[in-house]
Amino acid sequence: MMLDTIIFATQIVVPYSEGRPLRGSEMNKLKVIENGAIGIKGGKITFVGTQEEAAHLQAKETIDGTGKLLSPGLVDPHTHLVFGGSREHELALKQQGVPYLEILAQGGGILSTVKATRETSEKALFEKGLFHLNRCLTYGVTTMEVKSGYGLDKETELKQLRVAKKLNEAHPIDLVSTFLGAHAIPENYKGRPDAFLEEMLSMLNEISNKGLAEFVDIFCETGVFTVEQSRNFLQKAKTAGFGVKIHADEIDPLGGTEMACEIGAISADHLVGASKEGVRMLGQSDTIAVLLPGTTFYLGKDQFAPARDMISSGAAVTLSTDFNPGSSPTENIQFIMNLAALRLKMTPEEIWNAVTVNAAYAIGRGDVAGSLLEGRSADLVLWDVPNYKYVPYHYGVNHVNKVWKSGKVVAGKGDMHANYTLSS
Ligand code: NIG
Ligand code: FE
Repeated sequence: MMLDTIIFATQIVVPYSEGRPLRGSEMNKLKVIENGAIGIKGGKITFVGTQEEAAHLQAKETIDGTGKLLSPGLVDPHTHLVFGGSREHELALKQQGVPYLEILAQGGGILSTVKATRETSEKALFEKGLFHLNRCLTYGVTTMEVKSGYGLDKETELKQLRVAKKLNEAHPIDLVSTFLGAHAIPENYKGRPDAFLEEMLSMLNEISNKGLAEFVDIFCETGVFTVEQSRNFLQKAKTAGFGVKIHADEIDPLGGTEMACEIGAISADHLVGASKEGVRMLGQSDTIAVLLPGTTFYLGKDQFAPARDMISSGAAVTLSTDFNPGSSPTENIQFIMNLAALRLKMTPEEIWNAVTVNAAYAIGRGDVAGSLLEGRSADLVLWDVPNYKYVPYHYGVNHVNKVWKSGKVVAGKGDMHANYTLSS
């Protein structure tokens, strides 16, 4: 059989876990093929093995990745990709030490992005989303989650969700949508959080009927929604057929981690201030811990999420950019891998498993993304690095050489790199 493409690489990482994410000490085992080869036909992976085993294969095109690393396309399981405007004006406030929640309480922060998103047309939001999505692709992401939450009214929340749906159809990155209508309390509901949550719950039927989101999320935080309000809201979302997620214990340790485990959330995200009991419960439950060290870094905090304790307790951990205009303005998941090594003290093996298989399970895509298996879509990244340990080590640059989505090259050198060579 003639293949379309065969890719040779000095190392191939082949993370895999059948039917569930990797937990605890399992995360420290990473499957690697030395001198490996991947075969592609019709957009699907048809061969995974060593170059020796691939000797009999024939392909129309051969990519020689000698000296390079090949991996699955990365999965980013928590982003706020679709938003209007930007918040560079808040940088000076941050430098003066004004806390994130104080900026929000003054009507800035998330609420300033809400204003900008309401004022931005659906077409302009799509174009802006496309720009950021292309950048995500250049960093090696081929599947990601995207949240609404900058509308806080029916019209704008639906607008954001429609934009995400159109981006999913138009762009190589596969998008998984989450409804985050409960992201902040808008001006017209100030002091009436329960009434606002009712308003957001009243949208669930339409969102479900139109296939606009699979998951529902809430920002459980001081001055936003309490643990009890969040529990009640997410339970209703579950009853309506959605998977649930939560922004928990991001800034103040309120106990959202425990609640997420109790109600069976697919993931609990942030968890910087997770209590000992919360960490223990993560180890006992199916709720995946989505850690966002870029946010902790950008908020200027010294204390990062207790990743080591979580892994020791047996939890399934993943990592994400949290890409958003306020607390984490970056599409660079490779920098998150660096921070995971330096600040969360995760091993390179744990980090690679986190951004592939575990990230896929955190957004309900464990059966299609995050692994290199025969029969799966050929979503691949070739890296300009000698081995997998190199990516979490060499920080602040883009190591991607090429990205394939369903067997087609969709990003790579030429887009992001200078190609200057010396001529004699
Ligand atoms: O994950 N914490 C709430 N939501 C985002 C930030 C959103 C924003 O600041 O615009 C987060 O940190
Ligand atoms: Fe977030």
